[in-house]
Amino acid sequence: MTQPATSVSHILMPRLPYPDNALEPVISAKTISFHHGKHHQTYVDKTNDLIKNTPLATLSLEEIVKAAAKNDAQKAIFNNAAQAWNHDFYWNSLKQNGGGQPRGDLLKKIEGDFGGFDALAKALVDEAVSRFGSGWAWLVADHGQLKVMSTANADTPLALGLTPLLTIDVWEHAYYLDYQNRRADHVKAVIEKLIDWDRAAARFKMV
Ligand code: FE2
Repeated sequence: MTQPATSVSHILMPRLPYPDNALEPVISAKTISFHHGKHHQTYVDKTNDLIKNTPLATLSLEEIVKAAAKNDAQKAIFNNAAQAWNHDFYWNSLKQNGGGQPRGDLLKKIEGDFGGFDALAKALVDEAVSRFGSGWAWLVADHGQLKVMSTANADTPLALGLTPLLTIDVWEHAYYLDYQNRRADHVKAVIEKLIDWDRAAARFKMV
């Protein structure tokens, strides 16, 4: 994650970990410019506006997400902070010339928990496609068990005590300019060509 983990009074807008055309042709530079420069930026800006002069202003973004998730009165803060966190995590789930399959311990764990990499990829696509409306598809570690799941809108496994290993954004703003309504084709292309399995494996090692 590029977001500083230390306590801050101000949530910083993280830079993309690659140039805005690095994920082409699956995700165009135009999509990235709107997605990172407008959507993600707005979530960060709104979070900063909403936490101003509140006790949350001294917390890290991760701490704000977890705290606001427990308080119905802070739903707007949760939605914006969780989207800021989810998007930072999303950019860091992808890389140029990614995709393929993980190696080492993570691949062995996937084979044990899903029966093979192809089964995991299919589960991710199915979860992403069946998520009604906006949301996210995730590979998470749940107390030593790998699971595929999806969340609606801004919801995040971070607030559920799970350890996210990778995510795919299935809000329309993530793919509509490039794939229109073909969410399944977009998700398959992301899995085949963009997932950063080295980062997912590094997160898995920390579980
Ligand atoms: Fe998004």
